[in-house]
Amino acid sequence: MERTFLMVKPDGVRRQLVGRLVQRFEERGFQLTAAKLVVFGREQAERHYAEHREKPFFGELVDFITSGPCFAMIWEGDNVVQLTRNMIGKTDPLDAAPGTIRGDYAVHKGFNVIHGSDSVESAEREIANFFRPEEVVAYDCPLQVCI
Ligand code: TYD
Ligand code: MG
Repeated sequence: MERTFLMVKPDGVRRQLVGRLVQRFEERGFQLTAAKLVVFGREQAERHYAEHREKPFFGELVDFITSGPCFAMIWEGDNVVQLTRNMIGKTDPLDAAPGTIRGDYAVHKGFNVIHGSDSVESAEREIANFFRPEEVVAYDCPLQVCI
């Protein structure tokens, strides 16, 4: 089954959006298989965003991601990577359509509420950076069976 790594960023946790965001992915029909509230260390955050290491916003991005708790999750389902990216919306809230998470909850590019993996390969790399295999829970999800 395809998996993705989704993470409510510190702005989303502080604004108490975690429950509403989890609800959106549940209602879409995806299955939550791991979740935790964590304040990430710098090294871990830098590894997560390694592709942006040379970008001018990298330092501020790592400062922000390590500034408070993040809610990290693994979700499973058919095409979960692309479908959750669609639900999250464009990186810059100025471009994010209403109805997407960033289009509904975010104003600034640097504070855009949630992260979602951009490919199956990124998802597996990001999951390995944030979760140990024993933190992932396998269980039958009635919703998935009914779909
Ligand atoms: P990116 O991977 O391009 O976006 P996405 O989160 O949609 O996959 O960038 C990672 C994060 O870096 C992005 O969510 C917010 C931050 N960022 C900036 O602060 N300024 C920028 O110009 C860009 C492109 C990203
Ligand atoms: Mg990205």
